Amino acid sequence: MRTKQTIAIIGASGTMGSAIAKSLCKGNYKLLLCSKEPGKIETLIHDIKSTNSLADVEISDCFKEACWEADIIIAAVPYASEQELAERIKEVANQKIVISIANPLNETYTGLITAADTSAAEELQKLLPHSKVIKAFNTTFAADFSTAVIDRKKIDAFIAGNDEDALETVSELVSTAGFNPVIAGVLSASRTLENTQLMLIQSTRKYNYNWLAAG
Ligand SMILES: NC(=O)c1ccc[n+]([C@@H]2O[C@H](COP(=O)([O-])OP(=O)(O)OC[C@H]3O[C@@H](n4cnc5c(N)ncnc54)[C@H](OP(=O)(O)O)[C@@H]3O)[C@@H](O)[C@H]2O)c1
Repeated sequence: MRTKQTIAIIGASGTMGSAIAKSLCKGNYKLLLCSKEPGKIETLIHDIKSTNSLADVEISDCFKEACWEADIIIAAVPYASEQELAERIKEVANQKIVISIANPLNETYTGLITAADTSAAEELQKLLPHSKVIKAFNTTFAADFSTAVIDRKKIDAFIAGNDEDALETVSELVSTAGFNPVIAGVLSASRTLENTQLMLIQSTRKYNYNWLAAG
């Protein structure tokens, strides 16, 4: 069995951050849950501990300390906040895996705010040049985390990145969360993954799907 890894989840109070925390607490991980307002995640910690008393999970009130301690950092924040977050954690995220889950949607969900020749993940990699940015969980809706198996089949969760070892580590993490990890390609494949989720969100809104239409 591999050594326990520590994961800092930034934005743990949010819809995705809390779903990811709940799904990973059963794995061989120590979770450091971070929020700008730590009081917002007390209920989440309570919920996790009441379903899994052995969960190794803590509130961290300092992003920088949590990222310093972590092996893996999950940026569960809106695309618009990634730059500010990167500034705060840059020094302590060197050589670490940083997972970008963001979909850089415009306000009306009619398009992406990133240029066609880049993606949220690639922009985060530019801001954190010494980290290993991996795209994951952007094509899974938050609701999928409690229903990661549909018709007895695990939902596919796509991953993209440039570092082979980091892709393997994130595949294991995605699998622990209950999904079927599928490596889509190098980090620039995030352009396709982010556009795919835009299309899924648009279709879900248009045809009134159940917000489980991922992967
Ligand atoms: N919702 C989905 O189904 C879904 C699916 C796939 C991908 N995503 C992506 O997941 C990300 C989060 O979406 P969400 O739906 O979970 O949004 P959300 O519920 O609004 O949560 C976002 C979290 O980000 C934190 N945050 C905002 N600005 C921050 C900053 N400058 N520094 C640190 N933390 C900051 C906030 O936490 P505090 O204010 O408490 O610190 C908030 O809890 C987005 O990039 C979205 O595109 C969402």
